[in-house]
Amino acid sequence: MIIQDTEKRVFTLQTRSTTYQMKADENGVLLHVYYGPKVHGGDLSRLIRYADRGFSPNPDEAGNNRTYSLDTLPQEYSGSGAGDFRLPSLELELADGSHVADLRYVGAAVQKGKYALTGLPAFFASPEEADTLVITLEDAAAHVRVELLYGVLEEYDLITRAVRVINCGEEPVGICRAASVCLDFQDTPLDFITFDGGHVKERGLHRAPLRPGVQSVGSIRGISSHQHNPFVMLCQPGAGEEHGVCYGAALVYSGNFEAAAERSQFEDVRLTLGIHPFHFCWTLEPGQVFTTPEAALICSPCGFGQMSRQFHRAIRSHLLRDVWKDRRKPVLVNSWEAAYFDFDAQKLMTLAREAAGLGVELFVLDDGWFGHRNNDSSSLGDWWANEEKLPGGLGALSKEINALGMEFGLWIEPEMVSEDSELYQAHPDWVLNPPGRPYTRGRCQMVLDFTRPEVREHIFQALQKVLDSAHVSYLKWDMNRSLAQVWSAALPARQQGEVYHRYVLGVYDLLERFRQANPHTLIEGCSGGGGRFDMGMLYYTPQIWCSDNTDAIDRLAIQYGTSFAYPPATMGAHVSAIPNEQTGRSVPLATRGTVALSGTFGYEMDLGKLSEVEKALVVRQIADYKESFGLIQEGDYYRLTAPTPDGAPTAWLHVSPDRREALLCLVSGQTHAAQPFRRLRLRGLDPELRYRLTGDGEAWSGDVLMHAGYPIPMLGEYQSLRLWLKAE
Ligand code: GLA
Repeated sequence: MIIQDTEKRVFTLQTRSTTYQMKADENGVLLHVYYGPKVHGGDLSRLIRYADRGFSPNPDEAGNNRTYSLDTLPQEYSGSGAGDFRLPSLELELADGSHVADLRYVGAAVQKGKYALTGLPAFFASPEEADTLVITLEDAAAHVRVELLYGVLEEYDLITRAVRVINCGEEPVGICRAASVCLDFQDTPLDFITFDGGHVKERGLHRAPLRPGVQSVGSIRGISSHQHNPFVMLCQPGAGEEHGVCYGAALVYSGNFEAAAERSQFEDVRLTLGIHPFHFCWTLEPGQVFTTPEAALICSPCGFGQMSRQFHRAIRSHLLRDVWKDRRKPVLVNSWEAAYFDFDAQKLMTLAREAAGLGVELFVLDDGWFGHRNNDSSSLGDWWANEEKLPGGLGALSKEINALGMEFGLWIEPEMVSEDSELYQAHPDWVLNPPGRPYTRGRCQMVLDFTRPEVREHIFQALQKVLDSAHVSYLKWDMNRSLAQVWSAALPARQQGEVYHRYVLGVYDLLERFRQANPHTLIEGCSGGGGRFDMGMLYYTPQIWCSDNTDAIDRLAIQYGTSFAYPPATMGAHVSAIPNEQTGRSVPLATRGTVALSGTFGYEMDLGKLSEVEKALVVRQIADYKESFGLIQEGDYYRLTAPTPDGAPTAWLHVSPDRREALLCLVSGQTHAAQPFRRLRLRGLDPELRYRLTGDGEAWSGDVLMHAGYPIPMLGEYQSLRLWLKAE
């Protein structure tokens, strides 16, 4: 609910369990008043304190009032160059060369339903489910208006934000920085939590108290990146899974981003999140509008778990759009780790036949099917089937696969081109690279200039022809390098600072075209695994390959970190062969299954190489997947323990919305002698109900399982359990 007190100029956003308030004060400065657990108290602006602080200057309207400074007041959307020396939200370059942005309140309006952003991914909702608040600010001297958009999805405690910058003047204006969100907290010690790592080790949780100054994570790789995720948290120092106030902030965007938290000299905290200012400068001609990507905020008054579950629910019902989002996704086998580039039709059919015999429903042909690609140094851009490997092309292959009762899926990497390709020979200027500079190659490949409509058009036509030539029901959309030497031949020098963002807009544009042209095709996002695991991509691809690391033990930490913002059913998770390609570790097949079954399930191996006993286990895993998918897709997710290397088990729980069913999953780490007796305290159950556990004759009451715990058996190294709880 949005409550507007137009007289006092106080704006309050009430969600199920949180309150967010801001106020335009007597000088027209939009102050941030409160964000946290739900409160009812009208105008809370008396919380804000004023004092004369040395070296904190006073704006003209304050006259001689030295206690009024933009540098000390909590701002809703901070300006720059005008006396607030903390993180700026908006930085402008004006025609006279000045870099000042100083915003004052103009007006506000409430609209039914949630705003949409043209060309950008965003949460959506029906008019009954959400409202929008638009607050207009203005820098009168710059002739620039700023519209702050707030979408309120009350049931999910979700507040979305985006910003429109409008040039109302006669001269062009450069935007050097435009955050999607700014959040100020007065007198609140907070920890900063980020999700970091690298290729094959994505989204490890890192938590530290904020120290004085700016701490930030971000990406200038052109993708949201393996290194840092565009989702961060702030929390009270004592907060944990089930207690303490915490805030999650996600950027619904897949390109360069910066998440910065600053602890000021007075121990206030400011968080800004938006497009990274590195090589960002957007020229706004008179009358033009620039729209930032959307940011999504959820505050939980009682710990991380509730925040995650609210994000999961909101993403499932208000961000994923695919026809597949409510359907059980097919169990797939992917050819990559089974064959890499070394295959022909015969070998693929052998893999497929084995898989079909065990109940696998979708065969995915990964990299290597096109041009003359036999390794990763050629043919990207030449999107036609290699008939030497695949006589009759993909049409013939998909037909044979379909005849086995399986669907057919295909890997593509539309954004890239190899030098050794017909496409590059024909259009060398279609790659991003400044003139006269040698290439910086990544995986031997170069990045196509997706800012250019004609490049996107060519790729769309070429790939759509492939899709039309075969029966393709699944696409894996990959992207395998970071952007460097970013420069577009299609834009003048002064607009080169727009290329990173225009590239992302181009990717979204093409994804949208593919979605619309192939509405029944399931698209899985991928960037060398989880290099672009973000809410922007989820708007177009309802699942994302979580990591190129398929080692089940490493995956525990990767899937754990990912689960803070993203629902389990969006995480591509496959069982692969042992010893694992990435780690050399051998983990039992049952445990590999337990881990992968908590995502979108599949296999990434030659199933024909398994023993008969293992094949029987695969058949059982597929049956388990079919039985549990609904719970994993729709249920609430509880992290019971965090993965640790010291032998304590990693455990999590999926609970059905009516709490009558749950699935407890547990994987033991390294073993040590003389293990302690361990009990696992479950969560989210109905304390009044009695649950029967698989393999356990007796029923357990919900309160006993949650308060006293379930005594878990002593397990050997890397063993696992998957126990159903069903209410009597
Ligand atoms: C990336 C993907 C892998 C695989 C290869 C193919 O690394 O993450 O799953 O598709 O590309 O080249």
